[in-house]
Amino acid sequence: MARTRVPRMMFDFVDGAAGREHGVQRNSEALSTIALQPRVLVDVAERSLKTRLLGRDLDLPFGIAPMGMCNLTWPDADRMLAAEVNRRNVPLCLSCAASSSMESIYELTDGKAWFQLYVVNEPDSAMRMAARAEAAGYDVLVLTVDVPQVSRRVRDLRNGFQVPFRFGLKQVLDFALHPEWSLRTLARGIPRTVNFETEERSGGFARDASRAGATWEFLDELRQHWPGKLVVKGVMSAEDAVRIRDAGADAIYVSNHGGRQLDSAPPAIHALPLIRAAVGPDYPLIFDSGVRTGEDVVKALAMGADFVMLGRPVLYAMGADGARGLATLFDMLIHDIDVTLAQIGARTVGEIDGDVLFASHSNRSRTKPDTNPVHIYSPASAGLAT
Ligand SMILES: Cc1cc2nc3c(=O)[nH]c(=O)nc-3n(C[C@H](O)[C@H](O)[C@H](O)COP(=O)(O)O)c2cc1C
Repeated sequence: MARTRVPRMMFDFVDGAAGREHGVQRNSEALSTIALQPRVLVDVAERSLKTRLLGRDLDLPFGIAPMGMCNLTWPDADRMLAAEVNRRNVPLCLSCAASSSMESIYELTDGKAWFQLYVVNEPDSAMRMAARAEAAGYDVLVLTVDVPQVSRRVRDLRNGFQVPFRFGLKQVLDFALHPEWSLRTLARGIPRTVNFETEERSGGFARDASRAGATWEFLDELRQHWPGKLVVKGVMSAEDAVRIRDAGADAIYVSNHGGRQLDSAPPAIHALPLIRAAVGPDYPLIFDSGVRTGEDVVKALAMGADFVMLGRPVLYAMGADGARGLATLFDMLIHDIDVTLAQIGARTVGEIDGDVLFASHSNRSRTKPDTNPVHIYSPASAGLAT
């Protein structure tokens, strides 16, 4: 539905990925090859999806991943996301490249939002942005480190998508073919990366600018200055994860950016158990990349995540049917997770661990992880037909 209602350039910005777009496909395929073990005769009449993360009680095991310029998918998307997370008591991670001010979203979510930071250009300006987030009240900062340079996304090149925007005939035609989106966007104003606009600098965010200022030194400095919880996003290597944990991060966010950065990256779900094994059973891990269903959420928890983030699906949902689409997506996921718990004989999210994975996965608990990825993922070893 979103594909028909949203201009092609904007839909492709969301849906597209790096290179030949194999990585984005592999994320979902890898999740789909993981099998859960059905269990029977367990009294699962009472079930709960509540969980706890970074010192907060949350009503669901999933929240919303940081995404820049959500309002391009549908006008007011950021406000819809804020209202939805508030109602559901889960976090929304606001991207620094969002087109809503960090202050307004913090307020609209009643403090449930987290703030995501990129180190664009010089590290000093990122440090100033973190200070502004602290002043706004945020206590969870997510530093994204997997975009040293923005990848080439072929669909964006083809469509002439760039930030700041420049429109030609092709784009105007695209907008004309999607009149509801266009009229609403005109009425609300063309989205701008407002968090990069300051009194001195009004140009906003240059999407292609290097973000290579996110270094180990920067992480140390940020840890010294940021008093709240610090999460590092975009980690795919167990070795990096251990070093980040030792540098004082409060949680690691395992992600390959939804295949938007390195087309040949492994599926993020393959990196997750390796990172879990390396950081130990109790260190908080957040996961995204490829999650599309409630069963996917359960699988990510089983593979070692404490919490899961949804990316593109929330944008598709709003592109399809605005706030109502978003609420429907949440309802579907909640229902799906709830029924999945019942099917695998679990009553709570806390009961989900490696034991709910099928067959040769079953000896994989958090305390005794099998770190051999070949055992874990090959469909044959999982007992699935190949
Ligand atoms: C349109 C779009 C914009 C994004 N912008 C950001 C961003 O500003 N900061 C960030 O850390 N990640 C960003 N991401 C990556 C997401 O946080 C998340 O890692 C990714 O969407 C997960 O993959 P999935 O959507 O396929 O599940 C963006 C993703 C999309 C689709």
